[in-house]
Amino acid sequence: ESNEIILAIETSCDETAVAIVQNGTELLANVVATQMEIHQRYGGVVPEIASRHHIQQMTLVLEQALEKAELTMSDIDAIAVTEGPGLVGALLVGVNAAKALAFAHNKPLIGVHHIAGHIYANRLENEFQFPLLSLVVSGGHTELIVMKDHGEYEVIGETRDDAAGEAYDKVAKALNLPYPGGPELDRLAQQGEPVYDFPRAWLEKDSFDFSFSGLKTAVINQLNQFKQKNETYRIEDIAASFQASVIEVLVEKTYRAAVENGVEQVIVAGGVSANKGLREALEERFKDAGITLMIPPLHLCTDNAAMIGAAASISYRKGNFSDFTLNANPGLIL
Ligand code: KG4
Ligand code: ZN
Repeated sequence: ESNEIILAIETSCDETAVAIVQNGTELLANVVATQMEIHQRYGGVVPEIASRHHIQQMTLVLEQALEKAELTMSDIDAIAVTEGPGLVGALLVGVNAAKALAFAHNKPLIGVHHIAGHIYANRLENEFQFPLLSLVVSGGHTELIVMKDHGEYEVIGETRDDAAGEAYDKVAKALNLPYPGGPELDRLAQQGEPVYDFPRAWLEKDSFDFSFSGLKTAVINQLNQFKQKNETYRIEDIAASFQASVIEVLVEKTYRAAVENGVEQVIVAGGVSANKGLREALEERFKDAGITLMIPPLHLCTDNAAMIGAAASISYRKGNFSDFTLNANPGLIL
């Protein structure tokens, strides 16, 4: 039985993160330096600025993680890093830092898929039960993934246009809310009523795919109509109506996919899994389903390196290591 300690790095978007994870399940340190406030000024993540801040923060965050875990590099068994998908310039900072560390300290290197990381964030809380279904909802991805074993992913549905988080961010922008719009829209939705009947994109009868761009357009059209007619409206009600549409489709497709695939467990992953409305709706839907539902705690929903360390543990135990040709891959396939 392995007892490995992995140092993990994540820089795919706007968080510079380093974590130290033992056995893929035990969190020894989890440091996240967010750039959110910097990008807020521009209404979204500016890739050039993200890369520059990753470079500035990397050494500091790394030192903090080691200090927090009360470890030195000699205690570390492997270096893991997000190799993709994400912003190429941002990914490169993490990949190069990981390669430099692995080379300098003579440690094995493990490249990790960002979405595998989001899924494995759950394993820091509880053991997986296979077969399982994962609903991945982040700023860049909306996917339903069946896993029959560790490290094996079968994508059975995905978005055909916008990701769920992307829809949140775009609708929030149309409402002049600060970036990232997801948390703010979620908060407003709790105070509103879903009085507007926005569309639900069910697609073909058997499809587990998603589509959120029509919903986004419907919300924007509604806002334009208010403006033209000089009508007033409650922003909370728009938020609640938009959120009701997103959640209904996510929950129903997840439920149907779980039943049809006979899974033991459903796990939720990605930034949008922080959404209060989604968490409640999933809990309600799976209450009497005989399927265990696992939703990560809030601090593990959005980007962090702990999840990368947790996913890397599987590769470590399988002996799946990367060599020094490891490179940032913005379009990496799961
Ligand atoms: O997983 P993540 O941190 O980064 C990506 O890999 O994309 O997800 C970020 C996304 C953003 O679109 C953000 O608006 C959304 O997650 N998000 C939320 C909430 N918290 C974060 N969306 C809805 N409700 C929330 N509470
Ligand atoms: Zn993410």
